[in-house]
Amino acid sequence: MKLKGQHLLSVKDVSLELINDLFKVAESMRPYATRQKVTRVLEGAVLGNMFFEPSTRTRVSFGCAFNLLGGEVRETTGLSNSALAKGESLYDTAQVLSGYSDIIAMRHPEAGSVAEFAHGSRVPVINGGDGPNEHPTQALLDLFTIHQELASQDRGIQDLSLTLLGDLKHGRTVHSLCQLLGLYQGLKIQLISPEALAMPTKYVDILTNAGHQVEIGNTLEQGLPQANVIYQTRIQEERFSSQEEANRYRGYFRLNKQIYSQHCQPNAVIMHPLPRDSRNDANELDNDLNTEPGLAIFRQTDNGVLVRMALFACILGVENQLHQYEREVNWFVGLDD
Ligand code: NCD
Repeated sequence: MKLKGQHLLSVKDVSLELINDLFKVAESMRPYATRQKVTRVLEGAVLGNMFFEPSTRTRVSFGCAFNLLGGEVRETTGLSNSALAKGESLYDTAQVLSGYSDIIAMRHPEAGSVAEFAHGSRVPVINGGDGPNEHPTQALLDLFTIHQELASQDRGIQDLSLTLLGDLKHGRTVHSLCQLLGLYQGLKIQLISPEALAMPTKYVDILTNAGHQVEIGNTLEQGLPQANVIYQTRIQEERFSSQEEANRYRGYFRLNKQIYSQHCQPNAVIMHPLPRDSRNDANELDNDLNTEPGLAIFRQTDNGVLVRMALFACILGVENQLHQYEREVNWFVGLDD
């Protein structure tokens, strides 16, 4: 799969070669993302950013990434604010909105909906999450973060011992991540969840078929000690048939400084796609971890901008033209002491 002029609906079509190329482009975005330089390579281009489910970082980082390349962002948020609420089909909406945009990012509560939308679109569509199914850009930024965090400890992906924790049944980020990990071989992967929220068999099979050493468990003690990367997730309460059922699992696995010091390797990396549920009855990643060097959650969100900039640049075919449209930043960046 090449990216230019293509939809990104699933990680299924992504190869290791494409990932390596994409990550090089993502690295080249750092001067623009950290505001050392400005590039206007997408000046005049329009992103249709359509989010029909709650979102903060995915929606804003898509928009931010497009703006940082010089493009304009048009947003549609909430099903009730769109003609889909009047019974319009995804196909018709796609035909209309793709006439107003050069590229579209979309999130929708139904599995398969973004692919259905893409079928009617005249421009590339990026899946920003379709129900419990997939979240390809999150998985790419998660994998980018895993590479970066391991490299900062003089390790490589072959050294990865990853524990996925929490709601593995409904979490689309871990579903997409498992498919990407299926491109590698011989990793150690621990899948820790309440039994009722176990990773669907099709994703476990992808991991075992790749020759990874996969362990499945339901206690923190089974997942933490051997991991050098821990990926905590939120109980996806919006996917349960009732709030009562979801409440049974909220707060099931809590990570805090005491548990981290007691059970984890020194400097084990902690990731989370966010949002972390910080309400008292959940508190899945306590604030007392905020000062731990291993807490990578905000490096992960920063990486989201790099990876989404790289995706836009590659899909729109401008990844080799960034410098041509570049200039220095003329404003003050950051906080003055
Ligand atoms: C995730 C999602 O929406 O799937 N969030 C995100 O995009 N960063 C995870 C979640 O909502 O729990």
